[in-house]
Amino acid sequence: MSFPRDRMRRLRQSDSLRRMTRENEVRIDDLVLPLFVVEGKGVRESISSMPGVYRFSVDLLVEEAKRVAGLGVPAVILFGIPDVKDDQGHGADAPDGIIQRAVSALKSAVPELCVMTDVCLCEYTDHGHCGLVDGELVLNDPSVSRIASTALSHAQAGADLVAPSDMMDGRVSAIRQRLDDAGFEQVPIMAYSAKYSSAFYGPFREAAESTPQFGDRRTYQMDPPNRREAMREMRADLDEGADILMVKPALAYLDVIADARAAFDVTIAAYQVSGEYAMVHAAAERGWIDGDRAMAEALVSIKRAGADIILTYAAADFAERLREE
Ligand code: PBG
Repeated sequence: MSFPRDRMRRLRQSDSLRRMTRENEVRIDDLVLPLFVVEGKGVRESISSMPGVYRFSVDLLVEEAKRVAGLGVPAVILFGIPDVKDDQGHGADAPDGIIQRAVSALKSAVPELCVMTDVCLCEYTDHGHCGLVDGELVLNDPSVSRIASTALSHAQAGADLVAPSDMMDGRVSAIRQRLDDAGFEQVPIMAYSAKYSSAFYGPFREAAESTPQFGDRRTYQMDPPNRREAMREMRADLDEGADILMVKPALAYLDVIADARAAFDVTIAAYQVSGEYAMVHAAAERGWIDGDRAMAEALVSIKRAGADIILTYAAADFAERLREE
């Protein structure tokens, strides 16, 4: 390429030329909206660190899901916040647990909406860890068995897809086996495969009341500086039967998304987490950035890196904006 023959600005001159030469776009069909569900009736609690995000009781969750489906968003992923927590996380796989009731209500009211469930124990354990503990130790194999039965109970309630986020070793194959044995061989698994131990989960832990009561998640979630290790995690999950691989968080891990896109021929998902959402809103509230543009730019960067599916708290807002254009 040589100047003056080549002039990069030629194709940037007008909106129509820019539209034609645009390489990536975020479609409404790419989006998954995370939703928090709590006990009670008529509940719609705001979350201070996540403007525009609420905790809904099942009745209002159904209304929100109708609105979201009406905007064309294809899927939601549910996080349950039970009233009672215990050291075994019994609420996680209770047949009448908060998620199980939410899933069946959503599937009967909005059957066309894909209902995904986050499979983890942290919202249900009183210690706030993603698995079972012995003293300060987070146990692997006993946790995997609880997590597999949680996934099965979600499938029995009608979940269209289960998404384990616990980061225990071997949980994907345990879930696959448990689902297949019970006749749910058609329920896909979206594995949170490269899930890092991240400061960007801060607002989520307020929303889900799932902050660990001791220690942190560094013995099971990945160490942020590691890139090769993410490939091993993803390969392992694929071998164990994952249908979709996820990288989480998104913005600080775009290299990992790009690596995953290059190495695997499966659908790649990325989770724009609570802290990523909160940062944009906080800066926009102060008038420091244009929130809508910053959000659109962050979302398209995730697509450009190679993700097919984006889980984002901005899914409904973004879909609304796309439809207005
Ligand atoms: C549960 C889970 C977490 C998130 C998704 N599933 C929290 C965590 O691992 O601490 C984070 C989502 C977000 O920050 O938006 N294990």
